Amino acid sequence: MARPIRIAPSILASDFSKLGQEVRDVVEAGADWIHLDVMDGHFVPNISYGPDVIKALRPHTDATFDCHLMISPADPYLEAFAKAGCDIITVHAEAGPHLHRSLQAIRALGKKAGVSINPGTPESVIEYVMDELDLVLVMSVNPGFGGQKFIPAVVEKARRINQMIGDRPIDLEIDGGITPETAPAAAAAGVNAFVAGSAVYKGGSVDAYRQNIQSIRKAAEDAR
Ligand code: DX5
Ligand code: ZN
Repeated sequence: MARPIRIAPSILASDFSKLGQEVRDVVEAGADWIHLDVMDGHFVPNISYGPDVIKALRPHTDATFDCHLMISPADPYLEAFAKAGCDIITVHAEAGPHLHRSLQAIRALGKKAGVSINPGTPESVIEYVMDELDLVLVMSVNPGFGGQKFIPAVVEKARRINQMIGDRPIDLEIDGGITPETAPAAAAAGVNAFVAGSAVYKGGSVDAYRQNIQSIRKAAEDAR
């Protein structure tokens, strides 16, 4: 059976002056997961927000908190993100020398463990950690900023990762430049979770968000 499609709006593209409302609004509009982009100004050239902000958002929804850590090192902060209420915690393969240990640590905290790989990173880096994984996040832009252009070369990589996953209960997620135009190729390659910031949070109202989410979902479903 195909893994269910998950639309994961990134609040990076929302209005930071009313984050709680923006989270509630996309959930009301049909979001499956809330994607939380954590940036440290070191692993990526931008700074976003940390565990205290996530903790403040937690009471606003029961939706899955899909936390994307673009920080290095990640290990010293995993517990803080777990305590803040993240459900899935994803680290970058490029962010530290001990990926297997990081994934084990996330699971030991009772959370789902994800690994993300940059556009220039080959899929082989995850080959020997498949048993520690609940999610693979394929970056379709270089991490650090919302609103960038989708890099088509990663679709082939997603297809190979989908084969590596096989029957395992591992979600395959894509992040960066996802729109109703770019989602189909990824869906056809086996991607089931779609992060979208700009494409969801444009329009600024629940009705606009609902339409934006529905367009991405339908484009993905039709391509499977
Ligand atoms: C990029 C982040 C993405 C970003 C996606 O570093 O990981 O989640 O917010 O934004 P869009 O959908 O605008 O490309
Ligand atoms: Zn992200």
